[in-house]
Amino acid sequence: MPRTKIAIVGCGTLTTDTILPHLEQPDFLEFGEVVALCDSVPGRARRAGEVFSIAATYEDYEAMLSTSDAEAVLVITPAASHAHLAIRAFETGRHVYLQKPMAVTAADALAVLEARDRANKKLVCAPGQVLWPLYTTIRDLIRKGVIGKPYLAVPTMLGWGSAKVDFPFEPYHFFGPTGGPLRDHGGYGIHALTTMLGPIKRVTAFGAVATPERTWRDEPFAVAGPDNFAVLFDFGDGTFGLMPDAWSASSPAAAMFRIHGLEGSIDGDAESQNWLKVLVNGATVYNRDGDWRVPFDLADVPFLRDEHWRWGHVHVYGDICHLVECIRNHETPRASGEWGLHNVEVIEAVFRAVETGVVQDVPPARFTV
Ligand SMILES: NC(=O)c1ccc[n+]([C@@H]2O[C@H](COP(=O)([O-])OP(=O)(O)OC[C@H]3O[C@@H](n4cnc5c(N)ncnc54)[C@H](O)[C@@H]3O)[C@@H](O)[C@H]2O)c1
Repeated sequence: MPRTKIAIVGCGTLTTDTILPHLEQPDFLEFGEVVALCDSVPGRARRAGEVFSIAATYEDYEAMLSTSDAEAVLVITPAASHAHLAIRAFETGRHVYLQKPMAVTAADALAVLEARDRANKKLVCAPGQVLWPLYTTIRDLIRKGVIGKPYLAVPTMLGWGSAKVDFPFEPYHFFGPTGGPLRDHGGYGIHALTTMLGPIKRVTAFGAVATPERTWRDEPFAVAGPDNFAVLFDFGDGTFGLMPDAWSASSPAAAMFRIHGLEGSIDGDAESQNWLKVLVNGATVYNRDGDWRVPFDLADVPFLRDEHWRWGHVHVYGDICHLVECIRNHETPRASGEWGLHNVEVIEAVFRAVETGVVQDVPPARFTV
């Protein structure tokens, strides 16, 4: 079977630091190749193309869609542009990988799903936490009753603990009204929790701009969207989640999470994805590998073969492999558009809760765990 041809829109940090290095590795080239790059900032796609030996580069997305023979488009741009770019890719007959969140509003997320269905193409939405054995192992342990009834999940989503924003490209979209930590790394917490505990039914939250001014390249800029959230989730049947989500701290424990049950608890490391500890009545009875950052048996995860841990954000590479595998094997993505929609609906409900101070219902999920 020929390689699956891929185009990328958005040649900023994630694409140039992470995605392109992963996709030029020999194991990926066995089944896929990047054939076109697009970025609306003049010269940015061309420079990335020079570094990664990709000749077809564009500043105009419509020009790329009308001239490239790519079968799939990876949308790696700021959140506010995701839905429109994905819909246009579907309208021109492409499969799509969408970075998180898939849209800023649930209405736009639904429009993406409708475009996918009209085109009859594949859609994978980041983050694909359901693809990771860490979360499905925990889900299965909970279902087996190892920790008894789950009561409370606490995923800690903290990062970027400095007012000085040290990014290679202009970071303003992360700090505007369509950005913020909830739409950035909060999606990892939401997808991980829903993988382990099922869909979220209700939310309430505090949210605020805690640091109104930050600097990039020594220039101050205003933070226009909340950078600090404390969110409560209700999974139904008396199971709750409590998610701090802020750009306020970076520490080794910033990505640790714990699920408390009636008879025990489970600790996991969402950063390395490879550290898991189950405590039953205070004693460790199940510990795949107790050493910090020493992988438990991830050898059977295809997207972790060879050098991929080296290039960082290996979950993004895993999502992209998932799309390509679904295209080639005619499979339905597990990291689905419906899951992406649930993430957006949860985030939208959190913003409504912050504005109103009232608990918000989340529409019934359209995926099953
Ligand atoms: N940076 C990370 O570590 C990281 C990790 C995981 C996911 N993400 C997600 O990936 C996406 C991109 O993040 P990033 O950090 O690379 O951002 P970035 O700002 O560094 O890059 C985004 C790029 O998209 C381009 N762009 C914007 N609108 C466009 C349009 N309409 N057409 C063509 N190009 C357009 C910009 O010019 C910029 O070069 C976001 O959704 C983010 O949440 C980022």
